[in-house]
Amino acid sequence: MGTQENEQAGVTGRRMLLGAAVLGAGGAVLGLSGTARAAETRYGGGGGGGLKSLPKPTIIGHRGASGYRPEHTLGSYQLALDMGADIVEAGDLVPTKDGHLVCRHEPEIGGTTDVADHPEFADRKKTKLLDGVSTTGWFTEDFTLAELKTLRAIERIPANRSHNTLYNGRWEVPTFEEVLKWQDEQTRKRGKQVWIYPELKHPTYFRKQGLALEERIAKVLHKHGKDRRNSPVIVQSFEPTSIQRLNKLVDNPLVVLLSGPTTRPWDFVETGDPRTVADLVKPAGLREIASYAQGIGTTLDLIIPKDANGNLTTPTTLVSDAHKVGLLLHPWTMRNENPFLPANFRKGTDADAYGDVFGAYKAYFATGIDGVFTDNPDTGVLAREDFVNS
Ligand code: G3P
Ligand code: CA
Repeated sequence: MGTQENEQAGVTGRRMLLGAAVLGAGGAVLGLSGTARAAETRYGGGGGGGLKSLPKPTIIGHRGASGYRPEHTLGSYQLALDMGADIVEAGDLVPTKDGHLVCRHEPEIGGTTDVADHPEFADRKKTKLLDGVSTTGWFTEDFTLAELKTLRAIERIPANRSHNTLYNGRWEVPTFEEVLKWQDEQTRKRGKQVWIYPELKHPTYFRKQGLALEERIAKVLHKHGKDRRNSPVIVQSFEPTSIQRLNKLVDNPLVVLLSGPTTRPWDFVETGDPRTVADLVKPAGLREIASYAQGIGTTLDLIIPKDANGNLTTPTTLVSDAHKVGLLLHPWTMRNENPFLPANFRKGTDADAYGDVFGAYKAYFATGIDGVFTDNPDTGVLAREDFVNS
C-alpha cells in the first residue's frame, strides 16, 4: 500500500481505552505525573468537551508542521500549535527493541534520521519484508531507546523542502511519553486544551514480533489518565482489527484509515479477509466501522477522485454516506507544493513551488469533510477562515 505522497510525488519509501475517573489520589495510584495531574485538575482529562469541542473543519497538523520542519520532531509539533493547528498528529507510533513507543512515520528510519552517518550502527542495516514489501534500511525494532536517542531527525523530502534541511540534526526522535508530557505543558501554557492524534503503524507486523502496539498505547494512555471518551487523544490505524482491539482497551475516539480503493488493509491480507477499501466505503462497510470507531481518515481521492490527468472530478457520496452512520471524516493530506496538489491547482512545474492550495481547499471543504490533515497548518487555518466566512 503506497502513501498518497508516494503516488503523487514519486518519492520512495513505505507507508508504507478503562474509563473510570482517576483524579487526585487515583492519579497517584496510576502513576500520573504531576504535570498530568495538573492538566487533569484543569481540564478533567476530558479535553473540555470531546470531539464536539473541535472547530470544523478541523485542521490537523500532519506529522506536526512537516511542511516547515523535519517531521515527527518536537520542533515540528510545536510549530503546528503555534500556527493554529487544532490537533497535532503526534505521532505515527512504532516500537523500539525494548518496547518503547517512538514517533516515526515508519519503522525504517534511513530517510528521517542521520542513522546512516553512524558507523556504529552500520551492521544494523537490513532487508525485511514489511507488510509484503521488501524494505532495506534501519528499523526502530532493532534499536534500544537509548540507541535511538543518539540519532537526530532529518528532512524526509529535501527535493521538495530544501529549506527544511536547515533544521537537520536539531531534534531527537521523541517518545510517545514525551509527547504526552509536552501536550500537558502546552495545554497549561496556552490555557487551551491541546489535542493529539497518534497513529499505530503496522500493528500486525509488530504483534508478530512480540511488540504489540495496542496494549502498549493503552497502558501509556491509562497511566496518563488519557484513555477516556472525552480525552484529547484520537487514535488512528490503517488496520481495522487494530482499531477493534483498541476499542476493547480504551474509550478514546478511534479512526480507521483508508487508502486507495483497490488496496486491502494488511491485517485483512494476513487473516484472509478478502475485502478491499472499495468494499469498506460502501454503506455496509461504513456501518460496520461505525460499530467500533468514531471516524474514518481517507485519502482525499476517495472524497473527490481525479481523472487520468490528475484533475479533480465530481465528489463521491462518501461524505454523506459516512455521516449517515455517524462517522466523521478526516482525509489526508493537504500539502502546499505543486507535486502534491491536483493538476488543475498547480502553478508552474517547480517541485518546491506552491500551487493554488486555497483553491483546492475550497473544493475539498465544500464536500462537508469534518477536517483535514495538512503539512502546512497555517495555510489550512487561513483556508478554513475563507470557507467559514464565505
Ligand atoms: O494518518 C493520516 C495520514 O497520516 C495517513 O497517512 O502515511 O502519512 O501516515 P501517513
Ligand atoms: Ca499518519
